Amino acid sequence: MGDYTNLLVEIDSDGIGTVTINRPKALNALNAATVHELDQMFDQLAANDAVKVVIVTGSGEKSFVAGADILEMRDKTAVEGRQWGQLAQGVFNKIENFSKPVIAAVNGYALGGGCELAMACDIRIASEKAKFGQPEVSLGIPPGFGGTQRLPRLVGKGRAKELLFTGDMIDAAEAYRIGLANQVAAPDELIGKAKAMAQKIIARAPIAVQVCKTAVNRGLDVDLTSGIAYEAEVFGLCFATQDQKEGMTAFIEKRKANFTGK
Ligand code: CAA
Repeated sequence: MGDYTNLLVEIDSDGIGTVTINRPKALNALNAATVHELDQMFDQLAANDAVKVVIVTGSGEKSFVAGADILEMRDKTAVEGRQWGQLAQGVFNKIENFSKPVIAAVNGYALGGGCELAMACDIRIASEKAKFGQPEVSLGIPPGFGGTQRLPRLVGKGRAKELLFTGDMIDAAEAYRIGLANQVAAPDELIGKAKAMAQKIIARAPIAVQVCKTAVNRGLDVDLTSGIAYEAEVFGLCFATQDQKEGMTAFIEKRKANFTGK
């Protein structure tokens, strides 16, 4: 899977690819090198047919990702700041629109760019030790890796503005309560819970899952009528798959479906 300095990757026999952000000295903060590595990593995972679902997590128990690297950002000019934002936005868009489901296993601090990375994933499972927040206003900037857009889409306008304006951190229970985290897990059960969810998804019809992802993502960018029309198209297209015949035949024959992704 290539040479990475700040990322670890492991692909298990179930088809789960686990990507670990590994810069423990900086609490896994995202510097430019790490963002470039994420870009390259997701290209490789896309091309690898053995990978069915991706889990993104951080090394250690303290931090998922403590944000963009502040040391690297401090002296940027306005032009460099915009370029930096656009670089990471592009990579996070790639993750959001990745052809396979992506689960964030949020093991600790998910601040700034870390919260934004988690939000670019499809599903977030939080350790009881996780802390979420967008503290950028304490540094004189707004979030720049999609936070002003994805946070309100996940938790609503009012709650998003509260988090964005105050820079407050919230714990896993609160993140779960407001819909930022899908599930909360004990720290030592976090990866197990993420893998259990991944295995459940892998057992379903892959094209149907992929189509659900695209329809949700596209639908949230357009009006309801256009989103519903898109749904009708992909709903119809799935009747051309072998997995649709298999899924419905298995139901009628009262047996487990054997999906092939075709
Ligand atoms: N960038 C660079 N280095 C960071 C970092 C970051 N975002 N977060 C932590 N570190 C480094 C610290 O500088 C420290 O390094 P040294 O040991 O060399 O001094 C090391 O990680 C450990 O951090 P702390 O000593 O601060 O650990 P702590 O337990 O006292 O506090 C923390 C933990 C509350 C997460 C604190 O580190 C913190 O507030 N970090 C910054 C969080 C932040 O503001 N994130 C947003 C960044 S801006 C952004 O992300 C913009 C965007 O939208 C893209």
